[in-house]
Amino acid sequence: MAHDESAQGLLKESSTRRSSSSDRGDNAAFDSDSDLDATDYIDREAARPTRRSPTASFEPNTKGKKRWCSCLFTTLGRRSKCCIGVLAGMGILWVLLTATGVFVYRKAQEEPPYGQSPPWYPTPKGGIAASWADSYAKASKMVSKMTLAEKVNVTTGTGWEMGLAVGTNAPAIHVGFPQLQLQDGPLGIRFADNITAFPAGITVGATWNRQLMYARGKAHAIEARQKGINVLLGPCVGPLGRMPAGGRNWEGFGADPYLQGIAGAETVKGIQSEGVMATIKHFVANEQEHFRQPWEWGLPHAISSNIDDRTLHELYAWPFGDAVKAGVASVMCSYNQVNNSYACGNSKLLNGILKDELGFQGFVMSDWLAQHSGVGTALAGLDMTMPGDGLGWADGKSLWGPELSRAVLNGSVPLERLNDMVTRIVAAWYQLGQDDEKKFPRKQPSFSSWTDEEKGVMSPGSPTEQEQVVVNQFVNVQANHSVIAREVAAEGTVLLKNEDLLPISRQGLSDERLRARRDAVERATGKRSEGKFKVGIFGEDAGPGNGPNACKDRGCNQGTLGSGWGSGAVEFPYLVSPVEALRKQFDKSKVELSEFLDNKASFGKGDGSLNDLELCIVFANADAGEGFTKWADVSGDRPDLRLQNNGDDLIVKVASSCGGGTGDVVVVIHAVGPVLVEDWIDTPNVKALLFANLPGQESGNALAEILFGDTNPSGHLPFTIGRTLEDYGAGGKVLYLPNGVVPQQDFKEGLYIDYRHFDKYNIEPRFEFGFGLSYTTFKFDNIVVIPQRRKTQYPLRRPNPAAEPPSYSTDIPSKEEAIFPPEIRRLEKYVYPYLDSTDDIEVGQYPYPDGYDQQPPLSEAGGDEGGNPDLWSNYVVVNVDVINDGPVAGAAVPQLYLQYPETESETDFPVRVLRGFDKVYLKPGEKKTVKFNLTRRDLSYWDVVAQNWVMVTEGPYEFSVGLSSRDLSISGIW
Ligand code: BGC
Repeated sequence: MAHDESAQGLLKESSTRRSSSSDRGDNAAFDSDSDLDATDYIDREAARPTRRSPTASFEPNTKGKKRWCSCLFTTLGRRSKCCIGVLAGMGILWVLLTATGVFVYRKAQEEPPYGQSPPWYPTPKGGIAASWADSYAKASKMVSKMTLAEKVNVTTGTGWEMGLAVGTNAPAIHVGFPQLQLQDGPLGIRFADNITAFPAGITVGATWNRQLMYARGKAHAIEARQKGINVLLGPCVGPLGRMPAGGRNWEGFGADPYLQGIAGAETVKGIQSEGVMATIKHFVANEQEHFRQPWEWGLPHAISSNIDDRTLHELYAWPFGDAVKAGVASVMCSYNQVNNSYACGNSKLLNGILKDELGFQGFVMSDWLAQHSGVGTALAGLDMTMPGDGLGWADGKSLWGPELSRAVLNGSVPLERLNDMVTRIVAAWYQLGQDDEKKFPRKQPSFSSWTDEEKGVMSPGSPTEQEQVVVNQFVNVQANHSVIAREVAAEGTVLLKNEDLLPISRQGLSDERLRARRDAVERATGKRSEGKFKVGIFGEDAGPGNGPNACKDRGCNQGTLGSGWGSGAVEFPYLVSPVEALRKQFDKSKVELSEFLDNKASFGKGDGSLNDLELCIVFANADAGEGFTKWADVSGDRPDLRLQNNGDDLIVKVASSCGGGTGDVVVVIHAVGPVLVEDWIDTPNVKALLFANLPGQESGNALAEILFGDTNPSGHLPFTIGRTLEDYGAGGKVLYLPNGVVPQQDFKEGLYIDYRHFDKYNIEPRFEFGFGLSYTTFKFDNIVVIPQRRKTQYPLRRPNPAAEPPSYSTDIPSKEEAIFPPEIRRLEKYVYPYLDSTDDIEVGQYPYPDGYDQQPPLSEAGGDEGGNPDLWSNYVVVNVDVINDGPVAGAAVPQLYLQYPETESETDFPVRVLRGFDKVYLKPGEKKTVKFNLTRRDLSYWDVVAQNWVMVTEGPYEFSVGLSSRDLSISGIW
């Protein structure tokens, strides 16, 4: 593509507010000779007119407020209303950061940056996969009839709060393409009434149950469809969980790519079985909340997650591959930069990895305001911008909308690219059967994200006066989904310690156990308890607090913890607290219950008030969430791994005071991720620990099922619980303070996160990845390894495309198509595709990014939806018998870990990686054979030189099967 210097000015104009940030980001990606000076960069940013002040508070309405004042001072842990003082502080900080920025920049000149994203252009067109061929054929017919404005409408959100859902594009009315309604999020329908608050992703991961993963997705989608939603903004498989304190890890399924991949894919399949489009997010490496996006943290730029190619493939992009293979309709690119190029403008990620290598056939949507350039993102492979506004929230100044019309008319974005964007979106709509008006009546959602009132306006984000209409119809879509919610919560509860205590019965203990216990206490203390079994329930986390929805977006930790906070949370229709369930279910004729529902631990200070208790159930928790809001010292990411609200202290005090130290203690934890348990786990009377993750609305009921043994616990940890945060290694630490104007986070630990790190460095975790006890015991026998195909180093050749992408006329449309039709009622700030005038548009040879005219070779790892089909072929099957050799029925979670052959090459491999799991229900004495299919991808590593997945052909692969990553009792080789 020719570079025409004289056209430069026009291009700048044509893509107004193509931000300097993205210029930098994109260039950093494909222009290693960039002569950008860090200080110059700051100046240009400062001059940007549309920037939202970091201290400006954006509080649009009763619901859905985003607080954009979580400035750096709040990051530093001070309570600060975003105020003028902050600005002064920021000035000083600015100077410091500039100096650091210059330093970092100079350093970067000396040392090559960690991780690179070379240019990858042009965007591969959708329509190559047989599985989407019919939908593309239909889409092509529809798109060929669309005007320029209609095409732009389909790609661009109408602006924050311009529709009833959190995201809406605009329709192509004349051809019958509706406005799409996009809604969060991964655990239920955000901002909606009468829905189900399912357990969070991390709890789903802890079930290790594929059927439940699917069922939860399906139920979620039924609710979405019935509420008028086309696209669900979930599931979430990024963050992966590199840092155990990362604020949003709980939205995903656990700190392992294989587990995330299976859970994500099953959820996608469940959601899409109902015709609702799923969105897999956030692509990619949005591992922490601090500095995730510009201005939210007082910095002009988002953090850059710097990742090497192999790690990107084997860890962070891996679960996205599963979702693409499962047919996901949409991928949301993330806020952060990857290798110093914004994820939503990173051509290597979107064009190269996602669309070529993984053969993604749906559309890429930006996270909300994650787009930082107009032309740049279009060329890099973004297909839909959300919520449509430009560089600032609710400013109505889109980087696309009219600017995309302009860019197509003047030739700075090829019409072909626009056609591909639209075709991908329309094809996804057909692919999910949303053209069926019976299933998807072309109506607005039956609820408003922005008000609880029955009536309101359709576009509350616009200051233009509008008529009041019914916006909330209060349709109940819950059906019997509470059953699934409860099952997931119960199966996602992990029993971590149990010294002959659980289960107890609703009568407390059986007569025999009670007598034995009282005898023992009498022998030890000379005192004997009489009458009812005396149980104490402790902790704010056991109770309702001020109600589950007391804080907006669940952005505080009070009462029992059912979910984390942010866009991944919903309005709880109800939340059964543990105390409510236990109160109801304990047999009052046999059990005397005392409640201490705060964390002050003001009991037992010498008054002996707990001396009579025989069993104490103590609850504690740890919360976190999305970085747009903070609670106490938790600015999205947790500041440490400790229990919050004085939880450790409470447990220690309960343990020492319960029955004067003779009472049995059960600890129950609700948490967004790993917490440290060292303060009390070895205390002798702490007999049991239940890790209930984030259980959603059915919390108390699910817990009671487990405590009383109606359900035998079968949850296993989807992450490692270390003894200290340091145990997770340097890569496990959140970057809390910026190390430059563009904070840089090098993922130097590579593949070694979570258990892979613990295994490599031989660190004894407190509870290892995959661990979970049961009320019964299991054993394994008879492992059989059955080869299915011959080992070969490389996959079969990339197949030729099964279908041809649609082709359209390349004639640039008439400028008239982009002119504002006079009859349209214009809402202020609403994003339209139209221009007031096209007089200044000049068609020209505009500069394209470096590398645009040097199409890289197509990836040998690609060729179909999900990549080269051979990567998904089974190469070996491992069968193993699982036997329940304990006293009661229960479900085992056999896990298969692979050890790569020892090679003479330099290739370094983790000690073991998860490559299979199942969940099998077994009666006592029963045996079942579990079958693990291992695909070529499962057996390969990413070779950065070959740029392909490579299988090791010399030396044996070892497959070990067991009940956790460190309890592997049987193994076989191939
Ligand atoms: C979050 C996304 C979410 C979007 C829309 C963003 O802040 O990162 O996960 O889908 O908002 O609410």
